[in-house]
Amino acid sequence: MTAWSDNAWPDHLAALIGNTPLLELKRFGGRQTSPCRILAKIEYLNPAGSIKDRTAWGIIRAAEADGHLRPGQTLVDLTSGNTGIGLAALAAARGYRAKFYLRASTSPEKIGLIHQYGARTILIDDAEFLQPGAVDLIIDRVRQENPEAFYTNQRGNPANPRIHFETTGPEIWRDTAGAVDILVSAVGTGGTVSGTGRYLKSQKPGLKVVVVEPAAGSVPTPDHPDVDTVEGVHKVTEVEAQHLPGNYDSGVVDAVIACETAQARLTARALARDEGLTAGPSSGAVLFAAAQLAARQENAGRTIVAIVADSGERYLSQPGVEGDRTPHPAPAPQRRSGAWSSQPIRTGPKPSYYGPLG
Ligand SMILES: Cc1ncc(COP(=O)(O)O)c(C=O)c1O
Repeated sequence: MTAWSDNAWPDHLAALIGNTPLLELKRFGGRQTSPCRILAKIEYLNPAGSIKDRTAWGIIRAAEADGHLRPGQTLVDLTSGNTGIGLAALAAARGYRAKFYLRASTSPEKIGLIHQYGARTILIDDAEFLQPGAVDLIIDRVRQENPEAFYTNQRGNPANPRIHFETTGPEIWRDTAGAVDILVSAVGTGGTVSGTGRYLKSQKPGLKVVVVEPAAGSVPTPDHPDVDTVEGVHKVTEVEAQHLPGNYDSGVVDAVIACETAQARLTARALARDEGLTAGPSSGAVLFAAAQLAARQENAGRTIVAIVADSGERYLSQPGVEGDRTPHPAPAPQRRSGAWSSQPIRTGPKPSYYGPLG
């Protein structure tokens, strides 16, 4: 029986969400000699294929409970794809319609999946996202264009971090029997890191929460708009607080590690070839950060849990993946020296704009 259903068998799609496994990475980067344990939480095993299935269910469940979502209503949001896929799957299963706004560069696999569930997509030119505050302006447009729809508001809806506080965090705590010392996550809306990190710290105040963000060369600018980026990995430092998503709780974050897109893609490939895990590039970035942490002497004997948000299958057409016939070995993190441990960890800011989880 899952935590989601009172029945002996699942009777709705959401009953299949969560309780994803942890896998210890023994071969990744020569980890078998490491005094530090890395456990990957395999979120692509959720029914619609990513950690965002939790977010989608958390938002729909809360909106149904408080009467904000009417039968047959249309769900709408701006998404980097995975939330749209999770919402589209649940909308199909629960009789809602759905429409999502995405960057034009979103992988065709993700757009195809949203269509497969019967939802609509609107693509927005990537250049529109380049100015500070652009996301808020685009969201204003999304809401204006869809006045009758239910705006799921994944960036600010407290049901997003809450579902991670209630499920992702407790699962990690239960499945490590409290051994987890460090949580590593990417940040899109911040829901994962805020809810999961907050729960784990409530159990173990000394636990460290680390997020990965794009390094300077992987952030598009008006001068260099076509930079290769990782879906689901966003800047959290050097961003004004009002431009961070409301669901990102920087107070829960102890450190930020920067990762270039190329490093994220290489690490995802190393994960596939060393462990048989087809992780997406955001998970590559997370595992890049986890490898850096594992290389630090002060982390010897510690247990790191790294979030594998989605599968590499939804990015097979992206640069550096399609047509890649490079044989093994892929570059792997080096312990104790070299590029993997050379980047300093930057301590995250601690603004107090984020209130308690509602
Ligand atoms: C592939 C991927 N990884 C990680 C994340 C980050 O999740 P969250 O929105 O909970 O911060 C997202 C979400 O944007 C994502 O799509």
